[in-house]
Amino acid sequence: MCGIVGYVGEKKCTDILLSGLKSLEYRGYDSAGIAIIDEDTVKIFKSVGKIQNLFDKVENEKSNIKNPVVGIGHIRWATHGKPTLFNAHPHTCNCGNLAIVHNGIIENYKELREELTLKGAIFKSETDTETVAHLIAYEYESSKDLLIAVQNATKKLKGAYSLCIMHRDNPDEIIATKCFAPLLIGVGENENMVGSDVPAIIGITNKIIYLDDMDIAVVKKDGVVVRNYNGDVVNKKVVELSIKEDSLNKMGYKHFMIKEIFEQPDIIRNALNGRLKDVHSNIVFPEIDSLQSDKKIDNIKIVACGTSLHAGIIAKYIIEDLTGVTIEVESSSEYIYRNNTTNSSSLVIGISQSGETADTITAMRLAKDKGAKILIITNRPDSSICKFADSVIPVNAGIEVSVAATKSYTAQLIVLYLFAIYLCEVQKKHTAVLREIKQELLTIPSKIEHILNNKSEIEGMAKSLSHYKDFIYIARGTNLATAQEGALKLKEISYINATAYPAGELKHGPIAMLDENMPVLAILIPNHITFDKMISNCEEAKARNAKLIALTSSNDERLEKLFDYIIRVPEVSEILSPLITYVPLQLLAYYIANYLGKDVDQPRNLAKSVTVE
Ligand code: M6R
Repeated sequence: MCGIVGYVGEKKCTDILLSGLKSLEYRGYDSAGIAIIDEDTVKIFKSVGKIQNLFDKVENEKSNIKNPVVGIGHIRWATHGKPTLFNAHPHTCNCGNLAIVHNGIIENYKELREELTLKGAIFKSETDTETVAHLIAYEYESSKDLLIAVQNATKKLKGAYSLCIMHRDNPDEIIATKCFAPLLIGVGENENMVGSDVPAIIGITNKIIYLDDMDIAVVKKDGVVVRNYNGDVVNKKVVELSIKEDSLNKMGYKHFMIKEIFEQPDIIRNALNGRLKDVHSNIVFPEIDSLQSDKKIDNIKIVACGTSLHAGIIAKYIIEDLTGVTIEVESSSEYIYRNNTTNSSSLVIGISQSGETADTITAMRLAKDKGAKILIITNRPDSSICKFADSVIPVNAGIEVSVAATKSYTAQLIVLYLFAIYLCEVQKKHTAVLREIKQELLTIPSKIEHILNNKSEIEGMAKSLSHYKDFIYIARGTNLATAQEGALKLKEISYINATAYPAGELKHGPIAMLDENMPVLAILIPNHITFDKMISNCEEAKARNAKLIALTSSNDERLEKLFDYIIRVPEVSEILSPLITYVPLQLLAYYIANYLGKDVDQPRNLAKSVTVE
């Protein structure tokens, strides 16, 4: 949550900071601000709401901006204090010579605030961040050395932070430091940047230094010096990234979400290319081979949040079905606050698109402390979660910009399917069945393309369904999590209430809510033992006047009569069906939200990476 950018160089930095913030907009969008050192003064510009407001503000005040070549910026997702101008970053101290931006939460900020107030600090905001500004300023008063002031101040902080600090007395540098929150340095030619995520700096450079916790970097235009907690200089590796600029560009689509939905067939193709040579060969998974050890693994747990959790639930169904191995799946936020049964014989699989989700990171840390083996499945192998991993499987979806996860879910699912097949191959089980599954896997990208090519049908349907305030999604078996994921997509981008239930649960309570105002969307998989049961559940809903929507590949003649709408998908086996059934649900959510004029890519109250617990 929140985004940080910093620049030191020879160019006028306001545009660079603004464009860095623009590319971090998916991290938070309550308010934004920049601080620059210009004409020997720290100048701060802030605005509430979308980043465009900050662009306008800076444009309006451009006559007051001469030649700033050092600056920091921030885009905020409010934690402490409402999204007001006072609470927006950068924050400063009494004299206004120091400016800082911060991601994370300072847990002991109340005590620090009291102490600093007694020492004369005048607080203008409700934020935890302003405490850090005053604390560093206080330390600076005695040391007159910004680096030492930051070193002393950070020793007093409890919690998670990434910080960028600048001071009028040091007009050629930014200090950057972090603890349990990501921060990186972009290394350029006669210019260097700081960012909380790669998109912030990719317009300037693709050479990156990843900071470790408690590192403190002094960033100047012609060099970066990183010191550890003890003040010793550490040699950091410069990593060269191959980020495609396309990921950060809508490429003609109206929203990133729809662009990312359309990328899904290729994501599956790429994943299969790397790991599934042909249907007769075993799945290639060096990341799992490297996990094998003399230590016996006798229990597997999957821990994740949101969409990643849904991918984990599907993995449970397919792995248990194919291998008979028991898999527990749990939301990270539950896993971390109970006495769970993880032990040194556990394999704990953390799934996270961003790799920065605080709950999942804490879960991995706790599991590691208990001696478990940790496998991380992530779209960001450069992220914080990976430092707890014994092995990392990158899902290679490319940067996902839309807050609603779509292509990363696809990428997670395909990796999890391959993982399930791999486990089965290790057990030397179901060889013929596996061949059929692998054969069918290869057809999935074109089946998704077929759905995408028929998007206008779903678009039409979305229009006529968009006035409903509530939806129920039902499914049985492997697609239960698909229903949950579909409902989550609708909720988060259209703000329409949607709840998913196992279809058999309807009559245990939710059926009481059914009437003509409550559409029921049912996922029906033909030739599966649950098909007739699903039909019965839908008939029960119809008897209560609910509008019925089927999502199916079935041509069963009962469907036309029973359902008000039918979303057809290509034929697919039950086990692989979650690889295509979610696509129409993504489209339905997208088109409803778009029709209602919602801010699809940046839904209210949400942020792409939930870096606070
Ligand atoms: O980055 P992660 O996969 O750990 O994120 C988990 C959830 O925050 C995320 O999936 C969230 O639910 C999305 N908004 C779903 O679209």
